[in-house]
Amino acid sequence: MDTGLKNRVAIVAASSQGIGRAAAEAFAAEGCRVAMCARNPEALQTAAKKIQKQYSAEVLAEALDVTDPSAVHRFVEAVVSNFGGVDICVTNAGGPPAKGFLAASLEDWRKAVDLNFLSTVYFAREVIPHMQRKHWGRIITITSITTKQPVADLVLSNAVRAAVVGLVKSLANEFGKDGILVNNVGPGYTATDRLKELAKSRSAVLGKNENEIFESWAMDSPLKRLGEPREVADTIVWLASERASYITGQTVLVDGGLYKGL
Ligand SMILES: NC(=O)c1ccc[n+]([C@@H]2O[C@H](COP(=O)([O-])OP(=O)(O)OC[C@H]3O[C@@H](n4cnc5c(N)ncnc54)[C@H](OP(=O)(O)O)[C@@H]3O)[C@@H](O)[C@H]2O)c1
Repeated sequence: MDTGLKNRVAIVAASSQGIGRAAAEAFAAEGCRVAMCARNPEALQTAAKKIQKQYSAEVLAEALDVTDPSAVHRFVEAVVSNFGGVDICVTNAGGPPAKGFLAASLEDWRKAVDLNFLSTVYFAREVIPHMQRKHWGRIITITSITTKQPVADLVLSNAVRAAVVGLVKSLANEFGKDGILVNNVGPGYTATDRLKELAKSRSAVLGKNENEIFESWAMDSPLKRLGEPREVADTIVWLASERASYITGQTVLVDGGLYKGL
């Protein structure tokens, strides 16, 4: 399948590890020029160098916090000045802490809104004018299965990620005329450090060991296993590709069938 992505410029936010990193790698494998960011500069540079070497790809990597709008502005400007524009922007960040409603403080809510909603707004504000100029663009948000089906003790994710879906649908409606497609990808249980973190907190709540928690998550999906970051990344690349040119405003779950609804 020809994705038509060769030489496209792809920003992947929060991409030193996990799903973001797998997406950066998958875009590089398609011949894209890739811009990566994360807070920890060492982990980011290590990931960027590996991808650069493995795919002979042009990679720009800058340490930043996606909750800082001026840092996001400077990053997008650097991408445009180095690569001549932005075609694809994958918004991503870490997940909010696992908490029930009464355990979550107001500060937790504010942080979750900053991290998992406003960071998407910051990137979208920066990249859309560049995409409009080219009359071509793809914005893909990484959220969670919680956009369709709430997960126990993840009230911050369950509530805040729904706002991203509202944003995605609104941007898809407003900017379709400019050739910009906007979609959301919701991973189910995917084998990354974030999942280890969640297993630790579930284990403390339920008094089970972490392997039992992983096993129960795997068994909850019809495929009876956890997802791999690469499986989410391939869906992101497909949504960015010419092969998905009539898809916008959608949420695509990559969850092994975990979502129980129709
Ligand atoms: N894994 C799953 O099962 C799963 C399921 C549903 C949804 N999700 C969601 O998908 C997203 C990615 O998850 P993941 O599993 O790939 O997580 P991960 O393995 O923990 O990786 C998170 C990445 O985001 C970066 N990051 C975190 N906070 C950041 C910030 N404020 N600014 C810039 N970069 C930041 C991290 O690097 P630094 O720490 O160096 O910044 C790292 O590169 C999260 O929102 C997660 O909640 C994951």
